[in-house]
Amino acid sequence: MMDAARKAARGLVRDFGEVAELQVSKKGPADFVSAADLKAEQLIFEVLSKARPGYGFLAEERGMIEGTDKTHTWIVDPLDGTTNFLHAIPHFAVNIALERAGSIVAAVTYNPITHEMFWAEKGKGAYVSDKRIRVAARTRMDEALIGSGIPFLGHGQHGKFLKELHQVTQRVAGVRRFGSAALDLAWVAAGRLDAFWERDLKPWDMAAGLLLVTEAGGKVTDADGGEDMLAQGSVCAGNLELHPQLLERLKAAA
Ligand code: IPD
Ligand code: CA
Ligand code: CA
Repeated sequence: MMDAARKAARGLVRDFGEVAELQVSKKGPADFVSAADLKAEQLIFEVLSKARPGYGFLAEERGMIEGTDKTHTWIVDPLDGTTNFLHAIPHFAVNIALERAGSIVAAVTYNPITHEMFWAEKGKGAYVSDKRIRVAARTRMDEALIGSGIPFLGHGQHGKFLKELHQVTQRVAGVRRFGSAALDLAWVAAGRLDAFWERDLKPWDMAAGLLLVTEAGGKVTDADGGEDMLAQGSVCAGNLELHPQLLERLKAAA
């Protein structure tokens, strides 16, 4: 998985260099970026299919590809943080998770710019490169830095988000919208963000991050407190103290 992420990342970094140049052209870099995205997914597909022939794929660009092995599925977002990438903002990730019989057992979230490799294996902890990571120890909302995702044109529940934000901002030290749900969750796992919530996500945005956070000692549910994050498409993540407090704020907004 790391090998696939690094290979895809090499191409993305090369293409990211071009994107800055394309900002000034009237058409912009949009087509170029979707080609970069597809190339990265193709590479990941090739590396993983060679390493584990028969595993299925759920990938952002290709959708679902059934494998002969029905118990294993790779869940892949070749480029999470596309809008950042498109605007030459160096904050995006390659995101790969492995699902075995309904549970996520391995995760890789790779930041090609900082070279941070966040990874986790079920029951074995979460790491950045070879260093063990843990969720933050803060327990008070008034000291907490919270991440989220803001709905945008044609996507998400705008009114609901504003209500939730209103409930959260009054109680916390700060709210951030960095633009990559995959890195947001990795940063919760690494204790940089104290908690995070977002709705209207896809499985490939969060599958890896769910395992990273739980293996780093944190708690994850969907944004309404339910257990099936991938099916619900929402997430609320944090340490054991802050997770229920953030959830309570979200409930207050309902
Ligand atoms: C997006 C990012 C973003 C989140 C969006 C996602 P993409 O993924 O994770 O942070 O707010 O909902 O769609 O499109 O960059 O792969
Ligand atoms: Ca994504
Ligand atoms: Ca993507």
